[in-house]
Order: sequence, then structure tokens, then C-alpha cells
Amino acid sequence: MEITLVLIKPGGVSRSLIGEITKRIEARDLKVVGLKLMNAPRATVEEHYAEHKERPFFASVCDYLTSGPVVAIAVSGVNATKAIRAMMGATNPLDAAPGTVRGDLALTIDDNLTHSSSDPEAAARELALWFPEGTV
Ligand code: CDP
Ligand code: MG
Repeated sequence: MEITLVLIKPGGVSRSLIGEITKRIEARDLKVVGLKLMNAPRATVEEHYAEHKERPFFASVCDYLTSGPVVAIAVSGVNATKAIRAMMGATNPLDAAPGTVRGDLALTIDDNLTHSSSDPEAAARELALWFPEGTV
């Protein structure tokens, strides 16, 4: 059993896709063990994306993540990280397969609706950041 992090980015929240995305997670028999709507502090977002600090899109992705509320979801299940990554689809929605969240619901890389942890180590680090109080 593994716990992983999903963020519904501000574009997903403003497009009223909280239910749609959460429905897909639950339909896969993954369990929600933490869930909150929040305005993410800039410092949290910058730490979250620290691996991308030197990349040209770092400032814009941090601007995006702080442009409105996000939903942070902790998800538990067997191989949850890999399962969720596959469900969300490729980073660029143009490359994301139909049937994935990004392939079905997104069109551009700068508004690709969700974040999901890339591996279990990243998941542990990100869960500590977004759910310092722990999961349920
Ligand atoms: O989110 P994911 O792990 O699939 O992709 P990433 O390579 O870790 O990049 C993090 C986020 O930065 C992406 O989800 C995009 O929102 C953003 N990004 C971007 O705006 N432009 C790029 N060329 C690459 C990433
Ligand atoms: Mg990533």
C-alpha cells in the first residue's frame, strides 16, 4: 500500500472539475485519505517545484499554482503513485492519451489541470509538505 499526492491545479478548480477528477480516482478503487481546498502559499509551491528551480517555466508554474485555490488530495492504494500518474497522462496534454485526465480534459501544458507525484520518494516529500498534519 502506498500514499501519493494529487493536486487539482487552479484551472481544474475554476473549471469545476474537482468532482470529475476525484470521481476518476475513486472509480479506480483508490482511497482518498486527505482532501483540502486551499490557497497555496507561494513558499509551499516553490518548495513543491524545487526540482524545477532552474527551468524557464519555474516562475510561470509557481504563478499558476498561486493564481487561485487548489485541491490537495492524498490517495492510498496498491502502487498508487504509478496508477495515478498513468491516469493523469503525459505532461503535455497534446501527448496525453485519450482516457487520461489531461488527454480528455486539458489542451495546453501550462494549464494541464493536475499534479501527481512522480515516484514514491517524491510522494513522501510532497505529502509532508501539503499534509504536515498527516493523512487520515
Ligand atoms: O506535472 P508533471 O510531473 O507531469 O510535469 P513536470 O515536468 O514535473 O513539470 C511540472 C509542471 O510544470 C507541469 O505539470 C506544467 O504545469 C509545468 N510545465 C510548463 O508549464 N511548461 C513546461 N515546458 C514544462 C512543465
Ligand atoms: Mg513532475
